[in-house]
Amino acid sequence: MKRTHHCNELRPENAGSSASLIGWIDSLRDHGGVFFLDLRDREGKTQVVLDPENAELSALFPNLKPESVIEVSGEVRARDEATTNPNLPTGGVEVFAKGIVVHNQSKTPPFPLDDTADKVSEDLRLSYRYLDLRRQNNLHALKLRHRASHAIRQYFDGHGFLEVETPVLFKSTPEGAREFLSPSRLNPGKFYALPQSPQQYKQMLMVAGIERYYQLARCFRDEDLRADRQPEFTQVDLEMSFIDREDMYALIEGLLKTVWKETLGEEISAPFLRMPYVDAMNRFGSDKPDMRFGMEIEDFSEEFSASGFKVFAGAVQSGGAVKAFNAKGLADLTQGELKHLEETAKSLGAKGLAFVKSENGEWKSPILKFLSEEEKDALKQRLSVEDGDIVFFAAGPWETSCNVLGRVRLESATLLEKRGQKLRDPKDWKFLWVIDFPLMHYEEEEGRYVASHHPFTAPVEEDLEFLDSDPKKVRGQHYDIVLNGVELGGGSIRIHQPDVQKKVFEDVLKIPADVVQSRFGYMLEAFSYGAPPHGGIALGLDRLVTILCNRESIRDVIAFPKTQKGQDLMTDSPGEATERQLRDLKIKSIAEEPQN
Ligand code: AMO
Ligand code: AMP
Repeated sequence: MKRTHHCNELRPENAGSSASLIGWIDSLRDHGGVFFLDLRDREGKTQVVLDPENAELSALFPNLKPESVIEVSGEVRARDEATTNPNLPTGGVEVFAKGIVVHNQSKTPPFPLDDTADKVSEDLRLSYRYLDLRRQNNLHALKLRHRASHAIRQYFDGHGFLEVETPVLFKSTPEGAREFLSPSRLNPGKFYALPQSPQQYKQMLMVAGIERYYQLARCFRDEDLRADRQPEFTQVDLEMSFIDREDMYALIEGLLKTVWKETLGEEISAPFLRMPYVDAMNRFGSDKPDMRFGMEIEDFSEEFSASGFKVFAGAVQSGGAVKAFNAKGLADLTQGELKHLEETAKSLGAKGLAFVKSENGEWKSPILKFLSEEEKDALKQRLSVEDGDIVFFAAGPWETSCNVLGRVRLESATLLEKRGQKLRDPKDWKFLWVIDFPLMHYEEEEGRYVASHHPFTAPVEEDLEFLDSDPKKVRGQHYDIVLNGVELGGGSIRIHQPDVQKKVFEDVLKIPADVVQSRFGYMLEAFSYGAPPHGGIALGLDRLVTILCNRESIRDVIAFPKTQKGQDLMTDSPGEATERQLRDLKIKSIAEEPQN
């Protein structure tokens, strides 16, 4: 079994030489007794024609099946102009087969392995993921992912980073998501938790004097799954000592420039724009704004503070806000579309979704009768309302109003795109640093402050004085890197003084002292043996590659992803444990039989 060439390699210059190819039968054609097949391997396709004089091959042909693995040996022949296939790099040649060995016959695949399979149920494709991965776009995603990882490793290597592996068997971390537990047989009744990220270990590596660490780290979070979330995913994780935020921005901008160049051959421009969290929320209703299109949100709290529409006036009087944006050109939206937007707004906590639209020179709205001329003028001026536009409103608590209009803005863009407008070009790379997040926010349900990201983020120096008196005023030295509405990554400068870290845990986040001791005692101890000032970041590699490949879901760029229910349909995981395993682990399952 010696292949001489991959299936993308042969050219007319090779004519006359002999070649041996191994691969999968992509297609079979019988042209009036002349037998052709396309052979495919990881690199490409080559046309094979069977020697019509060879009775053995002619007898074999009817038994060949697509997707079987065969080895073809023969002679390379140039094709004449009329039969050249300009769509294939090897389209100028064919292999005149003199011998074929069938290594493995294939059954008929359960779905076609071309683009039409995109319409096949994803569950079926995931059950046969090894076939799905033979499809060009999936293979392309894996290759591009490989190139991205390679570029990332090279970049860090060139910047003095050490790649260090950290444990997968860890213990509970305070990063917010639910965790996967793994029982410890040697310590009955005790559990490891799989890491949500290498956060604590990478900080310990800084105390250890590593100075610059990185890892393509597998992370585990038992979250409700969505298109951009998997229970296990990969972070480009790093940590550095003796740096400030500016160093981190420059490092990551350089990294992303390299990745774009090495994978897409594109130059992206840096430095990236920076925007405080409050501005991102006010203008785009999101902490990960998609800046490829306008339709920015405006605040009308002042104009509507004494409005005849009591919902608006009431919102302002109770400390909230009235916000609005102009969905330009969407006045023709259908009842169904409007209803869907209203439901979306309500699902985010809105009481309703008031609107005003301008059609045939006339303003129309269920709330028109409540609006004064001044209010209408203000809307018209500040939102440049023209015929064919529709303005949406959210009135209520500031954050809810922002979130609601942020979502309605994105959904409006989708509706406008359905009408043929081009608002979001996938190749328009609008990178953005979102900065100045609040260090913590008050969680009504828990009756206490919780860290916006994680409790290791250092406060902005000049806000330190509010840590006791007004914690919500304190900004964190946190940064998120955002691209076209996707949070690619986030990180921060960390606390490295044990007294500040203890104060944040105990006085601000109100974590009981004994819990702090049992969970983080070792960290506080470590910080008292010469801890360098340090900071880091983690980028979601799956999300990054999804964007680079212009795919819909991170499932599309993971070799063996899990379904929305966290299952691997190919291997039928998760599975049950045997009695024996459970006994060894001293574990009893109280799960009930699933009810169908
Ligand atoms: P964070 O929790 O923001 O930060 O995670 C960093 C990045 O990881 C990606 N990500 C995910 N990707 C796929 N599926 C998931 N379930 C998932 N969850 C997160 C996102 C996100 O931006 N330790 C900190 C980083 C630090 O402070 O250095 C952390 O994990 O792209
Ligand atoms: P109502 O007077 O409650 O019937 O509401 C009139 C219009 O205002 C409807 O279109 C509601 O969807 C909308 N509306 C109600 N409450 C709010 C709110 N808090 N923010 C924005 N629109 C609202």
